Amino acid sequence: MDTMTLDGNKEEDINTAALMLKQGKLIAFPTETVYGLGADIFNSQALKSIFLAKGRPADNPLIAHIGSLEDIDLIVSHFSDNARKLAEAFFPGPLTLILPVINSIPKQATANLDTIGIRMPNHPIALALLKKSGPVCAPSANISGKPSPTKAIHVLQDLDGKIDGILEGGSCEIGIESTVLLVDPIPTILRPGIITAEMIAEKTGIQIVNNEVSLNNPLSPGIKYRHYAPKATIHLTSSSEEFLHLLDRFPQSLKLSTHITTQFSELIPLKESTFYDVLRSADAGNISDIIILFPHADRIKSPGLANRVEKASST
Ligand code: TXA
Ligand code: MG
Repeated sequence: MDTMTLDGNKEEDINTAALMLKQGKLIAFPTETVYGLGADIFNSQALKSIFLAKGRPADNPLIAHIGSLEDIDLIVSHFSDNARKLAEAFFPGPLTLILPVINSIPKQATANLDTIGIRMPNHPIALALLKKSGPVCAPSANISGKPSPTKAIHVLQDLDGKIDGILEGGSCEIGIESTVLLVDPIPTILRPGIITAEMIAEKTGIQIVNNEVSLNNPLSPGIKYRHYAPKATIHLTSSSEEFLHLLDRFPQSLKLSTHITTQFSELIPLKESTFYDVLRSADAGNISDIIILFPHADRIKSPGLANRVEKASST
């Protein structure tokens, strides 16, 4: 199939994308985190084609994306007080709430769970699209196992010819996927992101005591899958001293650090917004080693980035 390129800055192209979604087509679109691959949440055939296009395991549920708060009632069977507080504080924004799902939502959306992830992206193009299309399920718009796409070109590298269209809208500001939070009975972060437990406590008073993101955690199916590891070997350290040794050992490597000093001119900043892009370029450039300095204090400040870097470096 031909993948239609649409311009997210043109209203008529947003209208076309919304219409195509309603017709059961697959449309990639930008959000503030990463590009999503959208399909109408009420159309089980369209949802099935998401799994086919991405090569996604059938037991990995999708996130419902909404453009207005009224859509919640179409998807969620019970909206608890905590859910309300969280939505008020963080919608639109990079937080996905796991809530009980209405029975009539197709099973492909939830992979047969009795809960569903719901989020309102904080991106003008995504919001304009979703207001016209209604609720859409959207996993990240990459082939399963590749880094999530933060630019339209990444989506096309993976899915050109496999999806009906892409609504282009530049680079995603945040660059890693949303925080996934199980709301009830015990608020639990299932996938860390830029919204942290501290931010949630500060804005809502909800304390997250259970913050165990374990590979065997049956609560979040997506977490058990092996995540993207680039072709290059990643040498990750939290010690500046070891980093200096690595610089000597691997002079040809890509060098990333959260601490940029003028001492080393070739250091690439390690940050959420560009990490996936760096991984994709390393593969494209046949880089064999990536060395990363990521001190523990920075990992604690940026648990979402720490999670993605640690996953990319584990084999
Ligand atoms: O930022 C994001 O969340 C992006 C953009 C496109 O919005 N989307 C995204 O979707 O990252 P995806 O499908 O790549 O990741 C969804 C994650 C998976 O780890 C999945 O297992 C988890 O959310 N998830 C979805 N529904 C769930 C549920 N009912 N219970 C537990 N985990 C769930
Ligand atoms: Mg994904």
